Amino acid sequence: MRGFPLEVESNIGDFMQILDGRATAAQLKKEIADKVKKIQAAGGKVPHLAAVIVGDDGASQTYVSNKVRTCEELGFESTLIALPSSTSEAELLAKVHELNENTEVDGFIVQVPLPDHIDEDKVTEAIKPEKDVDGFHPENLGRMMLGLPTYISATPNGILELLRRNGVKTTGKHCVVVGRSNIVGTPMSILMSRNAEPGNCTVTLVHSRTANMQEVCASADILIVAIGKAEFVSADMVKEGAVVIDVGTTRVPDESKPKGFALKGDVDFEAVKDKCSFITPVPGGVGPMTIVSLMQNTLRAVERKNKKK
Ligand code: GUN
Repeated sequence: MRGFPLEVESNIGDFMQILDGRATAAQLKKEIADKVKKIQAAGGKVPHLAAVIVGDDGASQTYVSNKVRTCEELGFESTLIALPSSTSEAELLAKVHELNENTEVDGFIVQVPLPDHIDEDKVTEAIKPEKDVDGFHPENLGRMMLGLPTYISATPNGILELLRRNGVKTTGKHCVVVGRSNIVGTPMSILMSRNAEPGNCTVTLVHSRTANMQEVCASADILIVAIGKAEFVSADMVKEGAVVIDVGTTRVPDESKPKGFALKGDVDFEAVKDKCSFITPVPGGVGPMTIVSLMQNTLRAVERKNKKK
């Protein structure tokens, strides 16, 4: 049996395994916390992550507070900058410039989506590439595409790490990525086609204009879904034995839940799970890996800096 996943009985005779993002993230967090202790013991600078959030979107607030809490858990310093939704583009750009110049801050993120009156691309391009621990800056995305050292964005990197650490082999497989966002789908499709393991896949990227979505998805050995539509993937879109990675986290109103909503993935988990060899749950799959990847990038930022001294 492999290290982490829980084995779960299924109807198809064999078994499917839950790819447990919480367990894998816990292992990674321990490794990062140990490195931070070593840096501290050697008198080096501990990583400092700053997070900027504009407005009061509930989901974004939860993501950002999870990031800040994880910093505390790992011995990082953190700064949360919460700005009102009335913040102008110029004010946000001024904050970005300030963080670029702040030598105490090793890396920072600006949570997206931003309010409509702010041009997200302009903000991303204003972030210094060496502090762009989200890996969203065009320079970092270009370096990723060329296979050069860079910050790989948190969600795609978290998925690669989840596959790697759970022994899921990808070479020679057909990987279908659903969704072409700049944050997940597009970089994921490039990373899965790279000459690496995980990687070496034949990749198909499908999106809202794809004509034969069901057919293409059902041909996937590895199906990575990042489309942001609750329970979009049904059983007829999944091949027997497929690996299914669910990136979605949509809040669906549910009065029976304490917060008044349930978190749903892009995959109809109950309908699909028994066909899979591996599947990520929501919550507890990709989400915890995304946060830990951001922490890895921030640690790298400070390691680069400590090396330069
Ligand atoms: N919004 C959703 N995911 C992310 C992320 O990884 N980084 C930032 N900055 N915003 C997000």
